[in-house]
Amino acid sequence: MKILTVIGARPQFIKAAAVSRKLREFYTEILVHTGQHYDKNMSDVFFDELSIPKPDYNLGVGSGSHAEQTGAMLVGIEKLLIKEKPDYLMTYGDTNSTLAAALAASKLHIPVVHIEAGLRSYNMLMPEEQNRVLCDHISSLLFCPTDTAVNNLAKEGITNGVYNVGDVMCDAVLYYSRNNINASNRERFSKLIPLFEKIDTVDKWYLATVHRAENTDGTEKVEEILSAFESFDYPVIFPVHPRTKPTVALLRKRHGYKNIIFCEPMGYLDMLYFTENAVKVVTDSGGLQKEAYILKTPCITVRPQTEWIETLEGNRNILSEPTKESILNAAFNTTVSPTVKTLYGNGDAADKIIEKLVK
Ligand code: UD1
Repeated sequence: MKILTVIGARPQFIKAAAVSRKLREFYTEILVHTGQHYDKNMSDVFFDELSIPKPDYNLGVGSGSHAEQTGAMLVGIEKLLIKEKPDYLMTYGDTNSTLAAALAASKLHIPVVHIEAGLRSYNMLMPEEQNRVLCDHISSLLFCPTDTAVNNLAKEGITNGVYNVGDVMCDAVLYYSRNNINASNRERFSKLIPLFEKIDTVDKWYLATVHRAENTDGTEKVEEILSAFESFDYPVIFPVHPRTKPTVALLRKRHGYKNIIFCEPMGYLDMLYFTENAVKVVTDSGGLQKEAYILKTPCITVRPQTEWIETLEGNRNILSEPTKESILNAAFNTTVSPTVKTLYGNGDAADKIIEKLVK
């Protein structure tokens, strides 16, 4: 049996790291990187750190409008599907790479396996929501991370080939945090020293990321978010996504922030370390909200809704508007329950996926 897997953006590398290792014990996997993310610290670092097999093909699609990016991927993936003739196409999550892969395969009648199926924000303005809804409706095997996701699919009439296997990102968090967190705090910080002269005195921090189109199109919301961080009681470590970089550069000139440690996007192992040891995380990322939950760090999500609604219980994750007032209110005026549940599985989602495939 031959499976062609398509990945392309940062979170998909992490998910594939959890699944590919096990998949290859049973199947031939052809790994295709669309090239959606291409910077060293958005792509290569994950392959190196997480020992993901080298892609068999890289389409080198790079940046562009949604249509340019998705269209180029569609054409490239179709050619590879015709050449490789896989039994299944496997894809992850909700990026433009996900949609292009599912669509190309479905038109060629190659069954699609969608991992992280059934998530919904019910905000169809988000490109990710469009991608995940469309992908789910043309998938044959849908591996969901939660019961909520299974129910979401049922509401849309999708019940065949649907399995709750737990979350493959949870597999990755548990596996890599066990093998990682021993590294010393000082060693991790040493990499950031040139960026923040007072770093030696920092022993508590917040961790923040902002990259969603809805927050980063225009400068206003980023300005509000950064102005909240200036008022935090400890420094805010802020790895800057390429999408947010030009706005951050502009705002730094304007405001010269003192309480924010700006740095390049981090590798996965550093992110786990800084997440687990942060006072709180502030983010608009889907993955980081959940990683914070699993690593028992309270989170503030700067979005109107979340697909990971279970994390909201007990204020472990709090939704916030992209305003200074709302973020400060979420960070300092709310009580967070100490209870963290096992919501996303025990780190064996990849095993369950392989089991189902073998059957
Ligand atoms: C994509 C996903 C999003 C996911 C995010 C994780 C879509 C629609 N969105 O968003 O769901 O949360 O990845 O990071 O697929 N850029 C670089 N170097 C890179 C990659 C991107 O400079 O290696 C810049 C480009 O200018 C590009 C911009 O970042 O135009 C946005 O990149 P893109 O891949 O279009 O979407 P993301 O915002 O990264």
